[in-house]
Amino acid sequence: MQGKRIVLGIGGGIAAYKTPALVRQLVAAGMDVIPVMTESANHFVTTTVLTTFSGHRVRNDLWDLEAERSMGHIELARWADTLLIAPATANLIARLANGLSNDLLTTLYLATTAPTVVAPAMNLEMWNHSATKRNIGVLETDGVSIIGPDYGEQACGETGPGRMLEIEDIVSHLLVTTDPIDTPMTGLRVLVTAGPTRESIDPVRYITNSSSGKQGYAIAEAARDAGAIVTLVSGPVALPPPKGVQQINIISAAEMKSAVLDIANDIDIMFGVAAVADYRPTHSEPHKIKKMYRNGSPMSIELVENDDILASVAALSDPPYLVGFAAETQSLVKNAVQKRERKCLDAIVVNDVSDHTIGFDSDENEVTLLHAHGETTFDKSPKAEIASKLVAAISELYTSNRT
Ligand code: CTP
Repeated sequence: MQGKRIVLGIGGGIAAYKTPALVRQLVAAGMDVIPVMTESANHFVTTTVLTTFSGHRVRNDLWDLEAERSMGHIELARWADTLLIAPATANLIARLANGLSNDLLTTLYLATTAPTVVAPAMNLEMWNHSATKRNIGVLETDGVSIIGPDYGEQACGETGPGRMLEIEDIVSHLLVTTDPIDTPMTGLRVLVTAGPTRESIDPVRYITNSSSGKQGYAIAEAARDAGAIVTLVSGPVALPPPKGVQQINIISAAEMKSAVLDIANDIDIMFGVAAVADYRPTHSEPHKIKKMYRNGSPMSIELVENDDILASVAALSDPPYLVGFAAETQSLVKNAVQKRERKCLDAIVVNDVSDHTIGFDSDENEVTLLHAHGETTFDKSPKAEIASKLVAAISELYTSNRT
């Protein structure tokens, strides 16, 4: 990406305050950046700081004749190797989708032939609004790459999808998309669930399983390395959060389901690697259950079945490409084939958890990938290696499924 020329369009959202840091990191990665601000972006960031970090005069007015004399807006549109728009507000996205050219940035969008990358940032209800969805769909059809938004806490105090993608992720997206080698998932949005879930009995006790999360985390990292924008929904595990991956931590199966369904409509491929607890206690006691009051009487815990997360995603009107994982101890392939059909999955990965040298807590795995057109076995190897092979195989299946 050395020497790549980026026109950075900055919309008028709160996330614009992060753009000086974004400019710094793009420049540090060897890119030449000219910032272009919309009128409302001036409320969130100053031209002084952007000029200092970019080394270029900031452009913010189509009618600035002095700036136009040194580089006209059509010349600027031709100068760009990439037009990056971050943050892109709902209003700016609507104007881009409709081809309005009522300021410098929207005019540049129409005038450039360079690839355009848009990082949306807005309140979660605005992001979820059908008008915004429609506009995003139009931009995607027009060949624009949409990166993000992230899930998390928002300036308005709510939590959900809408935050601008982290700066590191925007920069790595630009670096990766300009290097076509080994990036089969470039620009795809991938969701990975990982780890166990915990189902509470009382404030200090719970039911869980022995999933370590290692295979799920390895898949998240492999998808990131393949160029995807990755969200990892993780149960409680003892693993460090993977870099460059948006992570949502949950405890119970119900929380995992709600985090997944919050973003599933914006996802291209989902890997359900988590060992979701199939049952939870019918009641979680608000206070610690005290043995001394039970006088030695036997105790039983009534359990109720948890919703199936993958099946809930499969029931959406336009579900992502769905990859399930089946931990089995007998009749591996037969059980996995039935599970794939029962849960309406595109593919399923099965492993033998009765073999303690592979599976749950070990660092190695051996798996078979089953899909509508056949099966492939990946022999025993480190989980990171299995993950890269699975990501490569799934991106091929995903691509052939779409063509
Ligand atoms: N899964 C899920 N929601 C659940 C249970 C499982 O999404 N409530 C997903 C897992 O993440 C995995 C796949 O379904 O991708 C298979 O999980 P597994 O535990 O092997 O299957 P179960 O549905 O629990 O079936 P069984 O207990 O009969 O083996």
